[in-house]
Amino acid sequence: MPRVVESLSELHQAIGRARDRGRRIGFVPTMGNLHRGHLSLVEAAAPRCETTVASIFVNPTQFGPGEDFDAYPRSLEADLEALASVGCDFVWAPPVETMYPLKQPFMLRVPERLADCLCGRSRPGHFDGVATVVLRLFSQVAPDLAVFGEKDFQQLLILRQMARDFSLPVELLGAPIVREDDGLAMSSRNGYLDESERAAAPTLYRVLETTAKGLNAGEDFTALKAQGFDELESAGFRPDYLEWRSAEDLGKPRAGRPSRVFGAAWLGRARLIDNVPL
Ligand code: PAF
Repeated sequence: MPRVVESLSELHQAIGRARDRGRRIGFVPTMGNLHRGHLSLVEAAAPRCETTVASIFVNPTQFGPGEDFDAYPRSLEADLEALASVGCDFVWAPPVETMYPLKQPFMLRVPERLADCLCGRSRPGHFDGVATVVLRLFSQVAPDLAVFGEKDFQQLLILRQMARDFSLPVELLGAPIVREDDGLAMSSRNGYLDESERAAAPTLYRVLETTAKGLNAGEDFTALKAQGFDELESAGFRPDYLEWRSAEDLGKPRAGRPSRVFGAAWLGRARLIDNVPL
């Protein structure tokens, strides 16, 4: 089992020892309730670093009022076993008072052009909370490399820009989305789906694939979007957005540059998100 570290002094000792031995530190921040997608992030870090650290912290500042902070599944024992299977060296699992010692914590504000679209539009303040906790985690763990999943592509771009803007000495690596056999992107929130919702859930991925294929064939995005919304609604979803954006800055897609189709939709009490490249 990886060692669980819960105090800053213990963390600094463990990181200090690794550094003294000249080890590169790889880091995978998580909120726990781990699935194969998370484990693939640890697997991506391991060959590039001699010490791999994962964090488990359900971050209150990235949940809005009425969101699922209290319900968010906590499963430390199972998470530790899963992390042991991929060779994670230790787990940083700070109590909330260590992460946020002040009643009114310092918070980051993500620039509007990155935060006021896609998930940021439906979840105001969410990315401020993500950036704030990741900056704190980076300053605690001081990793050389940090790995984030491309499922949360907007988060990945925001964190890359944050690292660049603050000149943080950390390399950010994006890891491909891990999917179930039927195409559903792995997510901790898939556990909220009942049996019939689970059967319908891969529709989101299918709609994104159809939209990307249509765009590649030169079809009109507005028509594809309307078709996608119809398909999602027929499968029982409440669509939030279906957008085609630059994969470099989330702006308007530019000819010859990478772009992605992004989607989010509610299915029962789960808000599912996914994206595919063109
Ligand atoms: O992607 C997540 O699980 C979270 O947003 C992160 C990066 C661990 C910050 O709490």
